[in-house]
Amino acid sequence: MNTVRHLRLGVNIDHVATIRNARGGDHPDPVKAALAAAAAGADGITAHLREDRRHIRDDDISALMAALSIPLNLEMAATQEMLDIALRHKPHAACIVPEKREERTTEGGLDAAGQFGQLMPIVSALTAAGIRVSLFIEPDPRQIDAAIRLQAPVVEFHTGRYAHLEGGERAAELRRISDAAALAAKNGIEPHAGHGLTFDNVGPVAAIPQLAELNIGHFLIGEAIFSGLKEAIREMRRQMDLVR
Ligand code: PXP
Repeated sequence: MNTVRHLRLGVNIDHVATIRNARGGDHPDPVKAALAAAAAGADGITAHLREDRRHIRDDDISALMAALSIPLNLEMAATQEMLDIALRHKPHAACIVPEKREERTTEGGLDAAGQFGQLMPIVSALTAAGIRVSLFIEPDPRQIDAAIRLQAPVVEFHTGRYAHLEGGERAAELRRISDAAALAAKNGIEPHAGHGLTFDNVGPVAAIPQLAELNIGHFLIGEAIFSGLKEAIREMRRQMDLVR
């Protein structure tokens, strides 16, 4: 079995920008949060530049690229505008996500199978620029098959359903994620996971041996109110390491 020992933690700092934007000034600064996350043991920083710029803004991406010594994973919709921005900044990785203006957060995975033709030139252009492409998909063999055909090196499984379900339904969704991680790894794709993960639900996901990275945001930024960002990240790291 393809077991990855160190499970990387990507900290998503979008909601530091959400709080900043509530008052329109510079505080709290997402770059300062990213540096604190790195100091607390984050392996990477994730930021989603949404089309409506509701949290992260264009100047945050420039500032993060200049300040960070750990990899930046830019989450982006599959549009020409976002492709141009990614090619300009050349982050370590770009995770292609579906985006709907009216949604509160990324509510489901990308339909990589249904949007194959639209995704192919974007995946190719990012790859040609040396950016590691990830596709944010549901843990579904049909979507993994599309990722294989698109030659994406990474997929990130949407754990939102797992996070919201309970009991037997949650166990079934966990099996779906676990099977999908095994299928991706068997086909040479590095599986990641994220969305809705908390101290209480991260363990069973972190225990899936093929997973190489988790991306976690909203819970950590919320928890930072009570314990501070560094302590929240250290505790998440501890929970992840307990099951490896
Ligand atoms: N991964 C991806 C691709 C996402 O879009 C998000 C949310 O922006 C996350 C991970 C993190 O989700 P959460 O904020 O619920 O931890």
